[in-house]
Amino acid sequence: MTERTRFDLAPDQIPTAWFNITPDLVAAGIPPLPPLHPGTKEPITPDLLAPLFPEALIMQEVSGEQWIDIPGPVLDMYQLWRPTPLQRAIRLEQKLQTPAHIYFKYEGTSPAGSHKPNTAIAQAYYNKEAGVRRISTETGAGQWGSSLAMACNFFDLECLVFMVRASYEQKPYRRIFMETFGAKVLPSPSPTTEAGRKILGEHPDSTGSLGIAISEAIEVAAASRDTNYSIGSCLGHVLLHQTVVGLEAKQQMEMAGEHPDLVVGCVGGGSNYGGLAYPFMAGKLRGETPDMRFLATEPAACPTLTKGKYAYDFGDTAQMTPLLPMYTLGHDFVPAPVHAGGLRYHGDSPSLSLLVKEGYMEAVAYTQNEVFEAAVLFAQAQGIVPAPESAHAIRGAINEAIQAREAGQEKVILIGLSGHGHFDMQAYDDYLNGRLPEVEFNPADEAEALASLPDVPIGG
Ligand SMILES: Cc1ncc(COP(=O)(O)O)c(C=O)c1O
Repeated sequence: MTERTRFDLAPDQIPTAWFNITPDLVAAGIPPLPPLHPGTKEPITPDLLAPLFPEALIMQEVSGEQWIDIPGPVLDMYQLWRPTPLQRAIRLEQKLQTPAHIYFKYEGTSPAGSHKPNTAIAQAYYNKEAGVRRISTETGAGQWGSSLAMACNFFDLECLVFMVRASYEQKPYRRIFMETFGAKVLPSPSPTTEAGRKILGEHPDSTGSLGIAISEAIEVAAASRDTNYSIGSCLGHVLLHQTVVGLEAKQQMEMAGEHPDLVVGCVGGGSNYGGLAYPFMAGKLRGETPDMRFLATEPAACPTLTKGKYAYDFGDTAQMTPLLPMYTLGHDFVPAPVHAGGLRYHGDSPSLSLLVKEGYMEAVAYTQNEVFEAAVLFAQAQGIVPAPESAHAIRGAINEAIQAREAGQEKVILIGLSGHGHFDMQAYDDYLNGRLPEVEFNPADEAEALASLPDVPIGG
């Protein structure tokens, strides 16, 4: 009999509660640091966030509960595509001639093509419940905007998306996808906001960044009573919603009768990787699986975790957010327009940053061509063309599988395959025709961007 490669869950095995890592961070002696008010430098109070988020999400952001029930209407919508598949990439193993077992948890089967609807549905639901009429947001790769556009449509909310200009130009079909769900999409920086006009005044050719697009979306929400802001990554409640990924993957690895030695994912703001990793990370924090390794992968053009500084910084360019304790390249940093648009963010999730800083998680950065080489190898082995973002995780897994081969070591690797790359054909065309520049991070840019960090000491 051939080896089993698919580990499918039934619809009634979708998790019914999200998993909150905070109690485990506290118990392990590394409690998360609070976000600070940029003026007083004191921990923020929930009311500061009230103009932007509904109360239910603010409460999730600060919750110390381990489990948070998923509301029925959200679960009903999860059933449109969840549970997602976990597969063993046996054909990739064979191509690499590695003794490692490689599994991947595939979020590309969602309607928008990535993990992003897991939180978009939840955020739209809570906003609708709170009586909000419209949601504004940013999008890098277009995956988040697509997901929120769909979720807003389901809950009868208007949706305004500021799309990073580099992606807006690279990916017209993502814009059309969002418009199909009734969203309004503007290239960012745009002349419609003060933050956008300021950037355009200084850099008329700006290709944009997630930090700038976030500023524009927040500005709109802060100025209108009936509009809230929604974020696609980085904050605690977003990672919380994404834990359905890891909770399912845990059940599926049990079905496969294996435990991962290594969990690898890509990190933009940290949501898909946190969502996959945290249910496994709890075991490491509790001392049950001390040897399990966690590898966060990122682009060499925007190496937040590997070259950034652990500091309090703004989440956006125009300095509108609270100060977040995180690895950052500086809120002014505008990464080169690499194709992994969803990974072009100057900061990272505070909890994930903390885990890297405390040595529970490793991080590595790759350049574009080595990432696309891995993506093509994976596609040719498994038939799935991965999103450029997800391909960073594949690169990490392949490198580990090659090391396992060289060391003659059996190893179980779990990849977070966060999305498909069906809207990224331009990127693949550029790679296949040798047109992808090897963009490396310029340390001079870092020095300049870090110079703008707020002067706030950070513990530890
Ligand atoms: C497919 C895909 N993977 C990963 C990311 C990175 O975001 P995060 O770190 O929040 O998962 C994005 C962001 O747009 C994405 O579209």
